Amino acid sequence: MVEGDKDKNAPLRIAVLGSGSGSNCQSIIDAIDDGSLNAEIVCVIADVEGAYILERAAQYGIPAKFMSAAPYKTKLDGVAEEEYLAELRKYDVEVIVLAGFIRIVKQGLLDAFPQRILNIHPALLPAFPGIDSWKQALDYGVKIAGCTVHFVDAGIDTGPIIVQRSVPVLEDDTAESLHARIQVEEHKAYPDAIRAVGKVVRGK
Ligand code: GRF
Repeated sequence: MVEGDKDKNAPLRIAVLGSGSGSNCQSIIDAIDDGSLNAEIVCVIADVEGAYILERAAQYGIPAKFMSAAPYKTKLDGVAEEEYLAELRKYDVEVIVLAGFIRIVKQGLLDAFPQRILNIHPALLPAFPGIDSWKQALDYGVKIAGCTVHFVDAGIDTGPIIVQRSVPVLEDDTAESLHARIQVEEHKAYPDAIRAVGKVVRGK
């Protein structure tokens, strides 16, 4: 179906890709459930067997499955990329939401979903890209930290920014306490960003 055919008010068909606990996926499920986000999670895919995100999704009747991305450890490429693409096409996915997906997305997926892949990062980009960014922020001594939802491009944590939310860094913060405060904001930022992208996709 071409986009123009879709009803302007049809729920946005999103796929969530993750590797871990899936608390961001949960926040999206909750926003859909409470009617504040007009979307449907049509599938959840994890590259880690037994990742809790799969269990969360299954509890809501969302098709959820582990898909290996071997032999690569840090990217989604080659045959695995093709398999992921086939799975996403099966569900007529419009927007891909990376929620704690630990792999770098490569050109095949980027080309198939131009400006349609979102990522959430636990820092105020462009500061502190890469891993353990809340630790980087704490070690650097910033007073304000936060999270960013952005479009994914070929770089690492570099694509155009959609939503940012900030939190204070407190005197007695540990890496864990700061990360927990950032995650509370992540859970608001992702539904907000998907809502905004949904409007663009539907031409509103
Ligand atoms: C989040 O902190 C997100 O910013 C980062 O990975 C974490 C995923 O957490 N990209 P969860 O699996 O959504 O709980």
